[in-house]
Amino acid sequence: MPASIAPAAVDLSGFKGALLAVALPEKPALSTALLALDENVGGAMRRAVESRDFRGARDELFHVTGTPDGPRRILLIGMGKISDRRGSLRRAAAIAARQAVKLGSGELGFIAEEIGETEAEAITVGLMAGSWEYKDLKTAPPEEERRLPLANAALVTPPSDAVARGILSGQAIGTGHSLARTLAMMPGNLCTPDFLAQTARDIAERYGMKVTILGRAEMEAEGMGSFLSVAQGTPQEPRLIAVEYSGGKVGEKPVTLVGKGLCFDSGGISIKPAQSMEDMKFDMCGAAGVLGALEAIGRMKLPLNVVGLIGATTNMPSGTAVNPGDVVRSHLGKYIEIINTDAEGRLVLADVLSYARRFDPAVVVDAATLTGACVVALGHTASGIFSRDDELVSEIIAAGKRAGEPGWALPLWDEYKELIKSEVADIKNSGGRPAGAVTAAIFLREFTEDYPWIHLDIAGTAYSDSDLVALPKGPTGVPTGTFIEFVRGRVS
Ligand code: BES
Ligand code: MN
Ligand code: ZN
Repeated sequence: MPASIAPAAVDLSGFKGALLAVALPEKPALSTALLALDENVGGAMRRAVESRDFRGARDELFHVTGTPDGPRRILLIGMGKISDRRGSLRRAAAIAARQAVKLGSGELGFIAEEIGETEAEAITVGLMAGSWEYKDLKTAPPEEERRLPLANAALVTPPSDAVARGILSGQAIGTGHSLARTLAMMPGNLCTPDFLAQTARDIAERYGMKVTILGRAEMEAEGMGSFLSVAQGTPQEPRLIAVEYSGGKVGEKPVTLVGKGLCFDSGGISIKPAQSMEDMKFDMCGAAGVLGALEAIGRMKLPLNVVGLIGATTNMPSGTAVNPGDVVRSHLGKYIEIINTDAEGRLVLADVLSYARRFDPAVVVDAATLTGACVVALGHTASGIFSRDDELVSEIIAAGKRAGEPGWALPLWDEYKELIKSEVADIKNSGGRPAGAVTAAIFLREFTEDYPWIHLDIAGTAYSDSDLVALPKGPTGVPTGTFIEFVRGRVS
């Protein structure tokens, strides 16, 4: 993460840093200021554009050799056709920062012409996202082979109050994103339910939030038979984490964010195939998003009340594990027949969503890497969105759009409830393959009847098993940005 991102009041023609990134749309035209800079490098940028060696296509890169006293290199980055300027700038900034890290330039200037608060924020978020790395578990190479870390990234733009504000909020959001991605990337033996709980305590302490952490005994006392049925296969202490942020008026109902926090999901007795099972360390990305959002909200001091809830455990096969066919009594009192122990996320969330009632939420938004079926339906492009309330659906889709995290609505119709009817209990936890993402959401719906609720299935969007150009393979940060934008959107 760059140590400092600050707007530098640099006249372009005088920029001296090691690497200067210039983001340009398709059919690029060089501004007067860029042409002045181009003079210093013998007109190389203009030649690249005029010869169409650089066309400004999305993600296109073109290196221009600079001058010995700086900028030593100029990097042209294509943004393609621009429909969402904020999104395009965020992406270009992330690519710029990734290149700066790769080159070991140590510093980076990102030229941002004619920008306001929103764009400055987006660029800052992009710079931080692009420079994020998880290197804790890699032995550092010998000194002489080490690249310079990206210590300083600057927006090369005339400073203004709006730009300064955008950078500040961008840093808050970027810090939240980075936290979520680090938690997600950490292996399950390090990022345990206890580690998530400690992370929540740290955030709570930093920003004066209240934190409550339940373990097995407390959950037993609460009657959380559904959550506990998942946790009974592991000796590790399960954790229900509740963080209360009171930035709003006393008595004002909180926006409540809920995250699935399966630090590892083996499937339990209904064990998963070995292929890619290691990816199930990412089964806590919903929880990571809650913590990332709380970090950002705390930093931004948003003036409203927010509650973050996390159900954290691991799903393991063992002699004590829950078996297919077992029936458990949930916190809400409904009996659940467990058909498939690999449909564990909904079992954990059922009790957390029921527990959420005590905070008298204005709205509950949950995010979970819930179903492989959602990946089949929407791929890795959009999260699945489910709610009884169409206005909430529009609200969350708009928030996701602002954050660069697309979502798309799938049906939550009563007809699907047939699929999860049980012979012995009130409901069963799996309806088999048809409409798997929908039946999972229908299951959750049973536990959310007392408040407005919306569910995000992020199984396809929270992490990527291939390089995404702007981001490496691994956690994307989803749903952190959506959570933050949703909460911000509720600030009146
Ligand atoms: N964590 C998985 C869902 C998942 C799959 C997330 C792939 C990310 C990528 C979840 O707990 C699960 O195993 N769901 C089952 C449900 C089924 C047994 C009804 C699934 O999707 O196969
Ligand atoms: Mn599972
Ligand atoms: Zn799972």
